[in-house]
Amino acid sequence: MKLVRFGVSVKEDLLKQFDFSINQKGYANRSEAIRDLIRLSLLKGEDNPSASAIGVIGYVFNHRKRELQHKLTHIGHRRLGEVISSMHIHIDETHCLEVVVAKGIVKELQELADEIISSRGVIYGELILSPHPKRL
Ligand code: NI
Repeated sequence: MKLVRFGVSVKEDLLKQFDFSINQKGYANRSEAIRDLIRLSLLKGEDNPSASAIGVIGYVFNHRKRELQHKLTHIGHRRLGEVISSMHIHIDETHCLEVVVAKGIVKELQELADEIISSRGVIYGELILSPHPKRL
């Protein structure tokens, strides 16, 4: 893919903060950090709900809510085309962490995450979206 160079004007102080921040994160150079910010911005904006993406949905839930386990399993089976993998970790006597990895379009992944995270008994959940590598 053809690379395009462009110039950006920015206040010195802001650039210093940016350089410090990307250095802390381990970026080798500004270009890679800015590319990641652009990708993130395009996905987070959700202005392209039909874009291909990979979603990682992590959630903590109370496994004593019996109907919840069933519901989460049903969701996974219903979404078989999207869900690639899942992992279950027992945190303590009551709580479990599950990580579901799915592929599809942004809209479907968002719906899948919303359905899981809004279920009763799910204490915390988050969707991490990555653009499909073919788009990068
Ligand atoms: Ni468990």
